[in-house]
Amino acid sequence: MRLTDRKLVSALAELGVELQASVSLAGLTSLGIGGTTDLLRVTRHESIPDLLRLLDSNSIPHRFLGGGSNLLVSDGELPWVVLQLAGPDPDVILEGNLAHVDAAADLGRTVTYCAKHDLGGMEGLIGVPGTVGGALRMNAGAYGMQIGSYVREVKVYRAAARTVETLRGDQISFEYRHTSFAPDDMMLAVTLELPSKPYKEILQGIRICNEKRRSSQPLGQKSAGCIFKNPPGASAGRMIDDLGLKGLSVGDAQISDRHANFFVNTGRASARDMLTLIANVRERVEKAYDVKLEHEVVVWNA
Ligand code: EPU
Repeated sequence: MRLTDRKLVSALAELGVELQASVSLAGLTSLGIGGTTDLLRVTRHESIPDLLRLLDSNSIPHRFLGGGSNLLVSDGELPWVVLQLAGPDPDVILEGNLAHVDAAADLGRTVTYCAKHDLGGMEGLIGVPGTVGGALRMNAGAYGMQIGSYVREVKVYRAAARTVETLRGDQISFEYRHTSFAPDDMMLAVTLELPSKPYKEILQGIRICNEKRRSSQPLGQKSAGCIFKNPPGASAGRMIDDLGLKGLSVGDAQISDRHANFFVNTGRASARDMLTLIANVRERVEKAYDVKLEHEVVVWNA
């Protein structure tokens, strides 16, 4: 979608929003898949309610993009503009055991920065790509921990009420790869409360998680992490593997031969290739195990 109306373009500039015309989302997602649209980079949290009102009054549909690491976007010209936060510098401020983090902050860098200041707990998230806002919205987790356990407070734009609100951690429910935020809520900032731990000890935990991840996941390849959620008491990766489906491909979309719940883009895969592969695997798993796998990856279908 292209924003060409001059009045609208100058109103965006007044709100401190940077308009990047015709951006390929393939370049902004870890899967390297996605069509083109205009990208709005938002530098000031305070301008978000006005920005959303402006888009609504001009009937411009929008989507919020975090780090693009758990996302599969349609091909071609996209029918919505994409909003992305541009984080402040610094994007993490520490205060005792509290870490005040902007939603646009890189997750891995945040974990390392806190570790260097003897704040632990998030070792399992090292190696998970994306932003802190994205991790929060999905309640990202690995190796027995989840980010939701450390949330003290969240600043969020609530689309339904069109207001910026601050919620306490206990007002939000954090479940397995799911939170009580509405789909169109936009994470702005979070305060995490982290346990004190000596850096050396945290580093040891980080090394162990890194090693486990390196040995079981296709880290150097373009992927969106796990495609499906694990059904209760089972592993989607193992189920797909046991069906002998590693290496199965549609175009350049392929089931990783390292971890069967990672689907990789080996070249120029399209969203259509990837979605066909996903549908195909879902069908085979349902036939074999009578289990309907749920997407873990977020799909933006145009
Ligand atoms: N397994 C296989 N074949 C495979 C993959 C896994 O046999 O191709 C077996 C493993 O050997 C292991 C079991 O299945 O015995 C579980 O595998 P793994 O430890 O890799 O964990 P997972 O359940 O497949 C989950 C998360 C990952 C997270 C890891 C580590 C989901 C959907 N996946 O994977 O998260 O990194 O645990 O904690 O919850 C993600 O969220 O995108 C993601 C990758």
